Amino acid sequence: MEFQFPQGFVWGSATAALQIEGATREDGRGDSQWDVFCREHPERIWQQATPDLACDHYHRWAGDVALMKALGHTGYRLSIAWPRIIPDGTGAVNEAGVAFYRRLFAALIEAGIEPNVTLYHWDLPQPLARAGGWENPATMDAFLRYARVCFEAFGDQVKLWATFNEPSWSTLNGYVTALHPPLKHDYRAAVQVAYTLMVTHARTVALFHGLGGDGKIGIVQNMCPVYPATDSPRDAEAARIADAVYNRWFIDPALLGRFPEDAVELYRRNHILPEMRREDLDMVAADSVDFIGVNYYFPHYASADATETLFGLNTSGNRDEDCHFSIKGLFKFVRNPKGRYTDWAWEIYPPGLRDLLARAHRYRPGLPIYVTENGIGAQETLDADGTVDDQYRIDFVREHLEVIHGAIADGMNVRGYYMWALMDNFSWLNGYKKRYGFLFIDRETMRRVPKKSAFWYREVARRNGF
Ligand code: BG6
Repeated sequence: MEFQFPQGFVWGSATAALQIEGATREDGRGDSQWDVFCREHPERIWQQATPDLACDHYHRWAGDVALMKALGHTGYRLSIAWPRIIPDGTGAVNEAGVAFYRRLFAALIEAGIEPNVTLYHWDLPQPLARAGGWENPATMDAFLRYARVCFEAFGDQVKLWATFNEPSWSTLNGYVTALHPPLKHDYRAAVQVAYTLMVTHARTVALFHGLGGDGKIGIVQNMCPVYPATDSPRDAEAARIADAVYNRWFIDPALLGRFPEDAVELYRRNHILPEMRREDLDMVAADSVDFIGVNYYFPHYASADATETLFGLNTSGNRDEDCHFSIKGLFKFVRNPKGRYTDWAWEIYPPGLRDLLARAHRYRPGLPIYVTENGIGAQETLDADGTVDDQYRIDFVREHLEVIHGAIADGMNVRGYYMWALMDNFSWLNGYKKRYGFLFIDRETMRRVPKKSAFWYREVARRNGF
C-alpha cells in the first residue's frame, strides 16, 4: 500500500538542549537543576552519566545540521537552554548563549530545515530551583522574562514555538514519584506546580501574541491515552481519574481555557487545591495556542486495585522489569498482558497515537497538530560493518506513520512528525544506555553514524511517503 502525505508535511526529528549540547560550563552557561541533580545523585543515573559532554552538539552543531540536511529533514524540534540565555535565571542576558542559537537557527534555515523551538525542556536554572523552583511564584515571572528575551532575540528566525515540554511528566516525576529533581513526593506541591505551569503557559501565549509577530505558539504534551485495565466499572472510574490528573489537568487549560472540574473537585476534597486566583483563570481563558504538539510513546491501563503507593521506572533495559505507578485508593497502571513491549517495558501500541490525535482533534477541530516526539529506545552497538541495523526502529516509525496517515485521511490536521531523536542522547535516568537516535553516537569519539533507520527515513522524506 502507498502512504502519501500532504504537501508540506514536516519530516523531522527532535532533541532537547540538556540531552545533546554538553559544554555545560562554557561561554557563560549557568547550572540547571539537572546538572546539579546529576552531580549530587550520581547513583540515580545509569553509570553515573552526566550531561556535561552529552553529544557535544554545542561544538558540533554545524556538522549536525549538515547531517540533518543530508537526511532530508525539513524540520527539527529542539529546545533552548534557559541557563545559556539567562545563566542565573533572573540576571543579565548571556550574549554568547544568544549568539549560539542565532548561528544554529541561521544554519538550519539555510539548510531548508524549519526550527520548532521549545522554551522549557526541564533545565530550570539552578538558582531558581534552589529558591523553590516552580513552587515559587517568582519562577513564573523569571520564565516570562526569559520567554520575552527569546521571542525578541530569535523571533525573526523562529516561527514555531512551544512553551513547555510535557508539563505533566515533569510535574509527576519531580513532585509525585520523586524520580526527577527536585525529588519530592508531595501532592500539594505537585498540584501547585501543575497549576503554576499552566498559568505560566497561558501568560506566555498572551505575551507572544501581544508582541504581534508572524510566528505560532503551542505547547508540547504527552497526552498518554489511559484505558481501563478491564471492562469493570471500577476500572473505568480509575481510568477517568487517572486521565483527569495525568492528562486533562494539562490539556484542558491549554486547549479549552479552563481546568477540569472533576480534578479541581478531587484536589479540593483532599485539601491540596492551590488558590485559583480570578486573574489567573481569566488569563487561562483569554487566549489559546496556535497548535498542539503531542509526544507519544505508550499508553496506560488503569486499574482500581491500587492498594499501595508505588513508583518506579524501568532503568535496566530488561523488559521483564515493570514500570510502577500506583496511587493508593485512586488508580494503578498495569501491564497489558497481550502487549508488545520494548526492552524498557514500554508498550508498542500505534493505535494509541490514533486515539490521542482524535482526542486533540475533538478538543479543537482543525487545530494544527504536530507529533513532536515518538520513538523507541534500545541498547545498540555498531555492527562489524560499522552500521546499526535497527529494523525495529523502522518498523516502529512506519507503524506510527501509518496511523498518522489514516488520521489525516479522516480529517485531522496533522502537520508534521519529529522522531525522537535525531541522535542518541542523554536519557534522563538511563544515561547513555538507552539509544533513540537516527544517528548512533560513538561515545569514545563522538562520531555520528547514521543507522539503517536514518537512510530509510531519508527516503520517506524524499518521497513524502512510503
Ligand atoms: C520524553 C521526553 O518524555 O521522553 C524526552 O520529552 C525523553 O526528553 C523521552 O528523552 C524518552 O524518555 P527517556 O527517559 O527514555 O529518555
